[in-house]
Amino acid sequence: MVRLGIIGTGGMANDHARRFRKLRGVKLVACCDIREERAKAYAGTYDIPRWYTDYVTMLGDGGLDAVSVVTVDAAHAAVSLAAIEQGLAVLCEKPLATNLADARRMRDAAAKKGVVTQVNFSYRNASGAQAAAAWVASGGVGRVMHVEASYLQSWLSQDTWGDWRTKDALTWRLSTRHGSAGVLGDIGCHIYDLATLLAGDISALACEMKTFDKGIAGNRIGPYVLDANDSFVSTVELSGGGIGTVHATRWATGHHNSLRVRVYGDEGAVMVDLDRANDRYWVVRGRQAMRKADWKEVRCRPTPSQQERFVKAIRVGKSDACDFARGARVQTYLDGSLRSARMRRAVRVKA
Ligand SMILES: NC(=O)c1ccc[n+]([C@@H]2O[C@H](COP(=O)([O-])OP(=O)(O)OC[C@H]3O[C@@H](n4cnc5c(N)ncnc54)[C@H](O)[C@@H]3O)[C@@H](O)[C@H]2O)c1
Repeated sequence: MVRLGIIGTGGMANDHARRFRKLRGVKLVACCDIREERAKAYAGTYDIPRWYTDYVTMLGDGGLDAVSVVTVDAAHAAVSLAAIEQGLAVLCEKPLATNLADARRMRDAAAKKGVVTQVNFSYRNASGAQAAAAWVASGGVGRVMHVEASYLQSWLSQDTWGDWRTKDALTWRLSTRHGSAGVLGDIGCHIYDLATLLAGDISALACEMKTFDKGIAGNRIGPYVLDANDSFVSTVELSGGGIGTVHATRWATGHHNSLRVRVYGDEGAVMVDLDRANDRYWVVRGRQAMRKADWKEVRCRPTPSQQERFVKAIRVGKSDACDFARGARVQTYLDGSLRSARMRRAVRVKA
């Protein structure tokens, strides 16, 4: 039995509870949120016996094998490090941290303690993305020449997910002093993860980003200063020699949550388009098909969710590939993007 605690019980924590509750041999035994009413309500909804408003107390009370860290980004590092110190397995939400130094500290602390870790790059739940990555890795497209990856959201121009002026789960995402690295940290980490899962590592990049005027007096809402980036565009150089673009925005009017990655090689190409389907991908390969641009749809078998992988990793005592080292690697792309945008030049990203 894996005894699990959830720390941070806002919106995304519901996804964790629902997914973990489906798994055999996992029991939700404690939860915590600095907002008492949230922790209490969450415990009630998911039948969790113990709830807390302080994670240090929760960890100190023991009786846990693992935690899910689903707090705001700014708390990921402190909470994860405290759980690692207790020898617990940790599934942490993305982005792993708010800066590269913290991400590396988390990676190194976990390695030293020998605990299982995982970062919730949740679009890896899409079997189409997993299968497409395996196809590229097996030589499906030949030599990777070009990647094109985008993640489009629109919550600054339309209120499908609520009004960012009043919904605090959106407002903190606009404020660097609340630990947000803007659209780059929030969803840029997902698209960098997927782009490199398919096309391979990035060795250098040049990034431009923009924070648009939102027409709010004083550019602040209560404690939130609206200074985090809303859009970024990166040109990337792949370690394997190819190049490409990775970009994301919160101003993609007409799109809710659109992720798409296309990888072009000298022998074929592949596309993952999660607006169209999670459980399939599209390929073109072979001289005839390429000449006619004849893309074929490939359906995939289901692949395990991030939560299933995490529990399996705990059972075998070895982290999944999507561990804190991977989270720290993706953090180098975020860090590189911020440096590049600040210096207005291309930068190398070292592991
Ligand atoms: N993987 C994904 O697809 C995905 C999707 C959405 C959100 N997320 C991530 O999940 C995390 C939570 O996002 P959300 O949308 O649920 O935000 P949210 O604002 O709805 O929830 C965050 C919760 O953390 C609590 N919290 C803050 N500091 C805390 C602390 N020190 N101890 C305990 N609780 C604390 C807040 O009170 C709040 O209830 C973020 O890191 C976000 O990036 C990931």
